[in-house]
Amino acid sequence: MPALQRTMEHDMRDELHVCEDADALAKHACEWLIGLMSAHQGPAPFTLALSGGSTPQRLYHQLAQASSGDVDWHNVLLLWGDERNVASDDTESNFRMVREALLDHIDIPLENILSVPQSEGPAEQVGESYEQLLRERFPTDEAFPRIDCVLLGLGVDIHTASLFPGTVALGEKNRWFMANHVPQLDSWRLTITAPLINAAKNVAFLLSGASKRDALSKLWHATLDPNLYPAQLVRPTAGKLWYLLDKAALGQTQLPESVRTQIVSH
Ligand code: 6PG
Repeated sequence: MPALQRTMEHDMRDELHVCEDADALAKHACEWLIGLMSAHQGPAPFTLALSGGSTPQRLYHQLAQASSGDVDWHNVLLLWGDERNVASDDTESNFRMVREALLDHIDIPLENILSVPQSEGPAEQVGESYEQLLRERFPTDEAFPRIDCVLLGLGVDIHTASLFPGTVALGEKNRWFMANHVPQLDSWRLTITAPLINAAKNVAFLLSGASKRDALSKLWHATLDPNLYPAQLVRPTAGKLWYLLDKAALGQTQLPESVRTQIVSH
């Protein structure tokens, strides 16, 4: 990419879209994502990293209802931004959540669904084999591929994907995807890494409900401390950062200067 173009992209302000409520947010996020997909220029398929969490889940329900003319699922590759080391039919499985909300209702080829392998051993092994799969499916001369869109949730502890406070994966510089032990949950998670997120063309936080206000405020205004506030690691290097929120999630939180705001009227 020419240096000038990179600089211009880098200078693009973050984009904040505020919707009336959770339903309006799901509908708007769906339209927004379909817009990104429609603007995508091939021949490579549109690559979409999915998040767990209830807010993205509502988006998947909406996407499942989109008319078949709106999304060419044959030209979309899905990957999972975070997962639990469980069987794919486990109620904890993000794959299961996405399957029920979206995959069961759309016409998408199986080879376009890059789910994390069902748990067949230690999380580290599963993480390595999924990373291998991603490296095979997204060959690149760069250290990280440029995923077209990474969807993210935000936890009240300011975690995103499965990058939790104080965990090892926060410091990762080379891996694309890895197992991450989360002592506070006494459990392993599987997660994309911050540098993979930051290489993406579009990264979007989806936040709904007043319970997210404090997390959002820390993400935007707390002194930079990703070990305590992992979502602060998210800072696309050459892509665009989006915040898709409902009014309850925003509350009276002061806006950072770096965002351009759009109030969504429907
Ligand atoms: C997961 C994701 C997590 C999620 C946030 C927000 O739970 O699978 O790892 O990052 O997106 O915890 O979740 P909610 O939208 O449900 O609050």
